[in-house]
Amino acid sequence: MSICMVIFYNCTNKDSLSIKSPNNQLKVQFNAMDNGVFYSLYFKDSLIVRDSKLGFHFKEMDPLEKNLEISGFEYSNSNTTWTQVWGENNNIVDHYNQLIVSLQEKENRKRKFDIVFKVYNDGVGFRYEIPEQKSIDSINITNELTEFNLVENHTGWYIPANFESYEALYKNESLSEIQSANTPITFESKNGVFMSIHEANLTNYAGMTLEKSKNDDFSFHSNLVPWPDGVKVKTKAPMKSPWRTIQISDSAEKLVESNLILNLNEPNKIEDTTWIEPMKYIGVWWGMHLGTHTWTLGEKHGANTKDTKKYIDFAAKHNISGVLVEGWNTGWENWGKKDAFDFVTPYEDFNLKEVTAYAASKNINFIGHVETGGAAQSFENNFDKIFSLYHNLGVKTVKTGYAGGIQTKGQYHHGQFMVNHYREVVKQAAKYEIMINAHEPIKPTGIRRTFPNMMTREGARGMEWNAWSSGNPPEHHTILPFTRGLAGPIDYTPGTFDILYKNAKNRVKWNDLDDGTSRVNTTLAKQLGLFVVLYSPLQMASDLIDNYEGQPAFKFIENFAVDWKTSKVLNGKIGDYITVVRKDKNSDDWFLGSITDENKLSFEIELQFLDTDKTYIAEIYADTALSDWKTNPQEIKIFKKEVNSKTILKLNLAPGGGQAIRFTPKL
Ligand code: NOJ
Ligand code: CA
Repeated sequence: MSICMVIFYNCTNKDSLSIKSPNNQLKVQFNAMDNGVFYSLYFKDSLIVRDSKLGFHFKEMDPLEKNLEISGFEYSNSNTTWTQVWGENNNIVDHYNQLIVSLQEKENRKRKFDIVFKVYNDGVGFRYEIPEQKSIDSINITNELTEFNLVENHTGWYIPANFESYEALYKNESLSEIQSANTPITFESKNGVFMSIHEANLTNYAGMTLEKSKNDDFSFHSNLVPWPDGVKVKTKAPMKSPWRTIQISDSAEKLVESNLILNLNEPNKIEDTTWIEPMKYIGVWWGMHLGTHTWTLGEKHGANTKDTKKYIDFAAKHNISGVLVEGWNTGWENWGKKDAFDFVTPYEDFNLKEVTAYAASKNINFIGHVETGGAAQSFENNFDKIFSLYHNLGVKTVKTGYAGGIQTKGQYHHGQFMVNHYREVVKQAAKYEIMINAHEPIKPTGIRRTFPNMMTREGARGMEWNAWSSGNPPEHHTILPFTRGLAGPIDYTPGTFDILYKNAKNRVKWNDLDDGTSRVNTTLAKQLGLFVVLYSPLQMASDLIDNYEGQPAFKFIENFAVDWKTSKVLNGKIGDYITVVRKDKNSDDWFLGSITDENKLSFEIELQFLDTDKTYIAEIYADTALSDWKTNPQEIKIFKKEVNSKTILKLNLAPGGGQAIRFTPKL
């Protein structure tokens, strides 16, 4: 980093400062005025965020809001490249200009705080820093005043603010109609500017939701998820807030390629990362959601020794390296009760030692499961018992779950108490060399950079909803990459082949949301396309293994890579379609995934991303002219074609359809 100017001066007349992105297209303007301190944002010389307030209200202290002056500032810039342990791209360029604005109260206690702006070509991050000082000790934030005052009635994609869950369908409404939102929330302006509001490095702080400001249809302010007593954040000086982020681009495709969230997180803190490995997995899982199996002991118990070994055999035979097992431990019969699980006692038909040894003998990762039913505290109290059990059995991956309300009274899934819990799990797991896949999580904010054992998480309406509700409509997947996907990997769990549950003859309805019409709302080819489109370093093939046996389409999953050198978005329209290509980190293969919503779609792409000096065999998994998610979802054609970087390929996607392609260099 080079610091190009440091000036501290007597503030007599300076009350505004500005900073631009390295390519000059973005500009942040900071103003200290009588009625408060404000930032505004310009993209290509047009105002896109109007003067928006910054500051805090506290429980005991006076607000940090008005009567502030700029007491100093510091400009710097940095242009480095860092390497990911795993990810969509191996190398990430971290190029920004930074402005630290130091503010001080003009009178009274002369309290001080800084606002740090980092301006990248793909967006802006800003955070509050309250340094240690005599007049500030404990900090109890009752309100963060941050505003996002937009300039026109953009169209937005969002889920309404919710302190407990992100598992909702996205809405597409004009800004004036949106009353509240979880982040990321993504907007498209009338003249083609794409922007998304989120946060990065959410550490020891409450999750941020957005609430519509009174008397201003185009303005949101931060609404932090509270503690039971109403305080939002309990901390002390020195403190740093998470980064408030606005990703900005003139194309939907580039928005998806943004690395802003990762760049605003701290570098990897895990020294030896050799035990961290992306992988594909299957699981003793879908049957429980479908209602053909149970988590609890009984005739249909999914996690029994015999059947789990079959999953391990299948994985070993088909180039899948993980097997998730849910329902192996007791407590499921106490669902809904307090501290239902002890997390470690196997059911009598499940021999944990035998199964994990069997998995190890076949070089398969047994993926453990810690369902807490919301008993986060009980999980914490048993960290050592749980993680050392798994560690001693050679288990390197654990899926966590927090279904139901948090059992510590009054706590929300997305408040500071749980933000800290989720982080503690990741830190503790790292000590035992365990990777985490969190369900009912806090939203991703880039922590995977700092703790690369934080692999993937849910935090979206995933595949399971198709098993026991009206499910996810075809449009859902074409919104996810432009919203939730901007924040980080999604454990969506694609790959259900028995789309109409024709083979699930003994299925028992167990969820009230299931009205008897549950099914997967895509074609088979789209299930494969989702593997590429919805990035996850632990990527699940969700269906029962019986539904994969003898299926030619499974070849795509078998050959699918798990870690990437580069990723590119070839085309995309939020809520309509998207096409993504990724280059395998460990071979010369490329993979393409394309998906559409309920409308069919045809387009041509030039294969410019391929090496110019190679010929490739494209294995194509495509919808046919007869495929249709509603009427003929299973229809697929699989064929090969010789291609090179100059080939123009025509893709035809059926309604609710998709396409998946593996490109392998011809020998
Ligand atoms: C919800 C999770 O999303 C799902 O994957 C899991 O099977 C159930 N909870 C039970 O833990
Ligand atoms: Ca649409």
